[in-house]
Amino acid sequence: MARKKIIAGNWKMNMTPSEALKLVEDLKPLVNNDAVDVVYCVPAIDIVPVVEAVKGTNVQIGAENFYIEDKGAFTGEISAPMLVDAGVKYIIIGHSERRDIFGESDILINKKVKKAFASGLSPILCCGESLELRESGAYTEWIKRQIKWDLEGVTADQVKNLVIAYEPIWAIGTGKTATADQAQEACKLIRDYIAELYDAPTAEAVRIQYGGSMNAGNAAELLSKPDIDGGLIGGASLKVDFAQIVNA
Ligand code: PGA
Repeated sequence: MARKKIIAGNWKMNMTPSEALKLVEDLKPLVNNDAVDVVYCVPAIDIVPVVEAVKGTNVQIGAENFYIEDKGAFTGEISAPMLVDAGVKYIIIGHSERRDIFGESDILINKKVKKAFASGLSPILCCGESLELRESGAYTEWIKRQIKWDLEGVTADQVKNLVIAYEPIWAIGTGKTATADQAQEACKLIRDYIAELYDAPTAEAVRIQYGGSMNAGNAAELLSKPDIDGGLIGGASLKVDFAQIVNA
């Protein structure tokens, strides 16, 4: 069965609620494409108004972060049940910015993946290597290790509903996109490793995105590759050009 492509915007710490509503309205007539899953992963404060604004459209909403407890004394945090109740469907986990700037470990990321599934959220699990690891050639082992640790105890049925985003850190926000062949190689490596950790049907079902300076100009080539099932898009998701990626 062909995997449905998933094009997700990662707005990061951009877009005030009023800016968000304007972008959503501008994009509305342009992203109306049922052939792909369209997701906006938005800052927590934008979730409620944006969920309301996309009602009746094909767009689904994701969050950028959450904490693994349901409620309690965790000042500043937001829980999975809160996100689900607000209408959130997807959750980005393990983004390199959360790993590097906020010190999130693979142990925490693994807990988040399990908590997301248990709560009814679909994780978009990010992995990817630094420039140093890319240049040394050690990136293949690095990516596999991230996947192994982050999916510890996650079942095959869950992985079939997982989205993995391969995001080489050297390509994020730098304008330096991986070539389509480099991206395909890494996405295939991840799929083959899922087959090794689980089985062939699970590897066939899991959707793998590329992320890192994907834009209206390079999306079509990246998305034409057999193991690239979509994109996680930062900078280019903040403009109406995002629609060109959805329709690429
Ligand atoms: P970018 O970000 O498209 O701005 O490179 C991608 C990401 O970090 O998800």
